[in-house]
Amino acid sequence: MSFDLVFFGGTGDLTWRKLMPALFQAFRHGKLPGGGRILAVARDEMSDERYREWLKERFREVEGPKRPSDEEFERFAALVHYRRMDLSQPEHYLRLKEWLATGQAETVVLYLATSPHLFTQICEQLGAAGLNDPRVRIVLEKPLGHDLASAQQINRVVRSVFKEEQAFRIDHYLGKPSVQNLMALRFGNALFEPLWRRESIANIQITLAESLGVGTRGPFYDGTGALRDMIQNHALQLLTMIAMEPPSTNDADAIRDEKLKVLRSLKPFSAETVARDVVRGQYRAGAVDGKAVVSYLDEGKIPAQSQTETFVALRTEVQNWRWAGVPFYLRTGKRLAARDAQIVVNFRPVPHPIFPGTSQANRLVIKLQPEDGLELHLLAAKGGAHGEALAPVSLDLDFDKAFAANRVGAYERLLLDAIAGRLNLFVRSDEQEQAWRWVEPILDAWRLDGGGPRPYSAGSWGPPAASALVARDGFAWAEEH
Ligand code: BG6
Repeated sequence: MSFDLVFFGGTGDLTWRKLMPALFQAFRHGKLPGGGRILAVARDEMSDERYREWLKERFREVEGPKRPSDEEFERFAALVHYRRMDLSQPEHYLRLKEWLATGQAETVVLYLATSPHLFTQICEQLGAAGLNDPRVRIVLEKPLGHDLASAQQINRVVRSVFKEEQAFRIDHYLGKPSVQNLMALRFGNALFEPLWRRESIANIQITLAESLGVGTRGPFYDGTGALRDMIQNHALQLLTMIAMEPPSTNDADAIRDEKLKVLRSLKPFSAETVARDVVRGQYRAGAVDGKAVVSYLDEGKIPAQSQTETFVALRTEVQNWRWAGVPFYLRTGKRLAARDAQIVVNFRPVPHPIFPGTSQANRLVIKLQPEDGLELHLLAAKGGAHGEALAPVSLDLDFDKAFAANRVGAYERLLLDAIAGRLNLFVRSDEQEQAWRWVEPILDAWRLDGGGPRPYSAGSWGPPAASALVARDGFAWAEEH
């Protein structure tokens, strides 16, 4: 299947750090359909050759084994082209159209890797230039809006130009192999489904912890914060995949309908419940991996009085028959003790303990990164003296080891899916808007509450209030067991 893939924002960070290296991996793995052309567009005047040289330089920063050899780069670069484009100029879109016409590709993927404030302008111009015929797919990179109203505005414009099935909204977490494994775990195996409900599960914890700080993204991050950056999208998407009902097919809309139902079932927040059930934090100086690191307020270009949260922990519930009363705890933060993304499903304890010692409830840990695997924590008899307490043991599965050769990275998978027109791993506009609807009362409550975020030391697990949030229900975060 021939394709043309256009990157708007062709000299931007996202393009050279993530998208081009991911495409290169697809190319190296022989997964990129033949007859493809890749076009980067941006403001600067450059020839194809100059852009390829520039890209080659950038590729030197790609991590070791993923870096192309010179020969591999030459072969890949032959697919890559560059055109200057001023995104406000209608005639530049007509030139793009002419360029696309020279290829007659069956599929045209237009990837908006630009600042989101350009999305509506680009879509309108694409529509005016007639670059929205059924061959065309538009890929929108997060952040998609700043709140419900701005997300709706983007969606209105996208919908006025493209059909919903032409719109590919990226949440790169959905492209991670570990996240796809969640679907496989739940719907490719019969084992867990009967237990996957309030009768057997005490609580579920989703942690997306990062040890990095905001780095050079200070100005963007300070206007965004952890709630918008990680909870509204990545954490909620994970929650929907954990909590959704089994879809009737593996088709995009069957899956997205079920995810939407979960988002609609989330317990809505009020000012009172935000104060009780949401903890926001901001990191102070501390040490991560034995190295001293500065406070958020001393990071580059962060206002001295910033009240932007770099940490959020919250408690919610999915209000339906399956999950009534089961707490779902979500937590994310920068400069935490470790880079660790995982979902912990804590089962209920045995109803009537007959063995000595404290009984420990079963726990399923779905490890998303840095490792990708599953751990099932059980209790076992050590085979020693009569009356001996049971010992904790775990069944460990390491997917990287099991499937190493076949695994593809998140962006590689998502780019290949966009080219192939598979929407399963992309977010539909109603899901995205519902997620905004749910987080907005938190943003509103914070705006009115002058208290600001609670400080926490870099290298910790966030403010102590996050532990108290879980302890109040008689539970603890995984690392506190
Ligand atoms: C992005 C956020 O969406 O996800 C970043 O904007 C964050 O702030 C990143 O660092 C985390 O992604 P990953 O794949 O490294 O866990």
